[in-house]
Parts: sequence; structure tokens; C-alpha cells
Amino acid sequence: MMIALECPACGNAYPLDIHWPFCPLHGWPLLIHYGAKHRRIRESAGSIYERYADFLPWRRFDPGLSLGEGGTPLLPLHRLAAEIGRPGLLAKNEMMNPTGSFKDRGTVVAMTMAVELGFRSVGTISTGNMAGSTAAYAAKAGLKSLIYVKDGTSREKITAAAIHGASVIKVRGDYPALFKRSFEIGRARNIFFMNSVDPFRIEGYKVAGFEIFDALGPSAFDGRRPVRIFVPVSAGGHLIGLIRAFFDLKEMGAIRVPPRFVGVQAAGCAPIARAFVRGEAPVRRFPRPRTIAHAISNPFPPGGDLALRYLRAVHGTMSAVTERELLRAQTELASGEGLFCDPASAVTLAAARKLGPGHGFDVLVLTGSGLKTVEDVNSAALDVNERDLDNL
Ligand SMILES: Cc1ncc(COP(=O)(O)O)c(C=O)c1O
Ligand SMILES: [Zn+2]
Repeated sequence: MMIALECPACGNAYPLDIHWPFCPLHGWPLLIHYGAKHRRIRESAGSIYERYADFLPWRRFDPGLSLGEGGTPLLPLHRLAAEIGRPGLLAKNEMMNPTGSFKDRGTVVAMTMAVELGFRSVGTISTGNMAGSTAAYAAKAGLKSLIYVKDGTSREKITAAAIHGASVIKVRGDYPALFKRSFEIGRARNIFFMNSVDPFRIEGYKVAGFEIFDALGPSAFDGRRPVRIFVPVSAGGHLIGLIRAFFDLKEMGAIRVPPRFVGVQAAGCAPIARAFVRGEAPVRRFPRPRTIAHAISNPFPPGGDLALRYLRAVHGTMSAVTERELLRAQTELASGEGLFCDPASAVTLAAARKLGPGHGFDVLVLTGSGLKTVEDVNSAALDVNERDLDNL
């Protein structure tokens, strides 16, 4: 199969170069181009991968490479909905994925392509979740994996990658520079680095968007009530993938109005939110990033400009929340709704709260589990004590 890539800035087509999937003219991430063929949802198909087969780049889904990702619940958040006056508040619980984050949705597609393209080794660079995800799926596929993690990544996240047999290297130095370096190493050693804005990963992220569409039904997107989808944003790959799902749905006439996406960042590292507010392009590097939401602390996001372009196309917006707001939201989701997410995911609730009362659907995409970042919880808010047995 000939896989074509396209630059979303200039529309030029390029052959696939796994080791640098960016436009040589613009530097934007290249995206999969499916050609002119008529694409449709296969209504009678059983699994989501079969239903949306025309929108995915693999030859076919191989159950032997899957760990059971996807199919995550869309949960009503009754208590928080009443409290913030948004009755349609829902959470897409991406923590339910096999390695505890949404990354698995992109990894299964990229890993399947790695096998289809004949790679023996894969790699990634990560603030933690993509490390564990890539290592786990590489183990399942029987491929070697090389993982570069940001210095300061939690022990839980490092262990969760290394246990799968990955070679894990903690890297001191500039994270955006590591992004580029990893592709050079990939080219020299024939390792497929499936990084944050990898074109196959992005196609995998679309599947969560298709699931949200299937769960809410076409009438939710007829333009009468707004649908907002809140997404934590770092490199931008996840947001780009989710928006692309609704572009696909619009293109085939399944929806009339795409949801208004709200990309959310921590104010301590908000390069895309800052550019959005100021109307700046291109997105510039954010100086001295500082936030407890480590999973979304990329100061120079490689998908930033494309994320902004896509957001504007769906009349979306960017929001930035403070550390206090996101920590409060994390505790509220856990104590009010039973959902222990990481600080990066909690930014979504903090952003929804800022909107005030409203009547549409508001979907919070909870991208990662709190169990991998327990050290970052605001422990002052926890009711944990010690007593002797005879003094209870
Ligand atoms: C929990 C969590 N949420 C959100 C993101 C952001 O995704 P992206 O880098 O595709 O914008 C990440 C990325 O590492 C993550 O781990
Ligand atoms: Zn271009």
C-alpha cells in the first residue's frame, strides 16, 4: 500500500518518511491523506475499528497487536454538573485504556504500521504516559523499544515502561531539542520513533472522537445545543486527532456542526493558549515552564500551529488554568465522582468551571490516570491519619 502524507499548511503531498514526517517548507506535522475515495461508516460492522475502517490507515486491524484499548465509557458527572450548573457534563474516561492513558489509541495504530512496514525496533520520547504505552504495545508486537523520558519523570511511569523490557533512558536537557534528535537517531538506526504528533498516532486518536459521536448520536450535532469537548493539550497530537474525527464525520454528512473544542493548558506552560489569546502565529516557545501537570508541559509544541488552525475551524478556543484551579479540580473529580485522574486531565474540569452555567453537552476528556502521579496530589487535602490499634 502506498501511504501518502499531506501538509495541512500548503496542501502539498509527500511520500511517507517515518523518520521526519514534517513539511520541508512549513515544518508542520504531515497528516495521512486518504485520496479521493468515497469513505463511509460501515453501519453493519461490529467493532469500532470495522465501523470506521475507511478512516484508519492500517491495512486491517490485527487483534494480535491490541491490548483491548478503546471503548471507554462516557460518564455523566451528576454531582459536579449540578454544582457548576452545566447539566450536560460528561467525562470520557480515557484512563480505562490498558496502560492508563489515551496514548494507547494512537500507539496501537502506529505499532500496527510498524509491523506492516517491517520495523524491528520502535521508540518514543515521553513525559511518561507515551513511554508506558509504547513499551507495552512493543512487547505485545514482539518489537524492541527505546524510550527517552524527560528527566524528572515519575518513578511509576519509568517502571511502567521498563517492566515491558524497554530500554529506558532518562535524558537531561532540552525536551523540544530531544524531539528532533530522536528522529535523527531513528533514521541512523532504523527505529520508528512514534512521537507525539506522529501521523499514525493522530489517526488513532480519532477513534475516541468517533466513540463520542456514536454515544451522543447525530442529533447532538444538529446545531441546536452546543457540544464542547475539553482536551488537555501538550504537543497537540491528541487535540488534532479528535478534531479530525469530526472533520471526517462532517465530510461524510454524519453531522451538521462539529463540536466546539476547548484545548486546555496549565497557565505555567501555556504556549498555545498564549498564542490563541494574542492572535499570534506561529506559536512561540514558552519561557520557564513550571507546572505540576508534567504530562502537558511541552514549552514548544510541534503541533501548536496546526492545533490553532484546527481549533479556529471548529470555532473552538484555548483555556489556561492555574495550579490551584487544576489541583482543586483533581480533588473534586476524585472525591465527587470517583475518578482519580492526573493533574493534566484535571485541567479540563477547571476550564469547564470557568465557563459558568450552560445547557449543552460538555465532555471532559480525562486522558491519564492519577495512579501514575500519586506524588503530585495535594496531600494537604487528604484525610489520612495514624493511630495505634488500641486507640481507635
Ligand atoms: C495525560 C496526558 N494528557 C494529555 C497529554 C497531551 O497530549 P498531546 O501531547 O498529544 O497534546 C499527554 C501527553 O503526554 C498526557 O500524558
Ligand atoms: Zn507545507
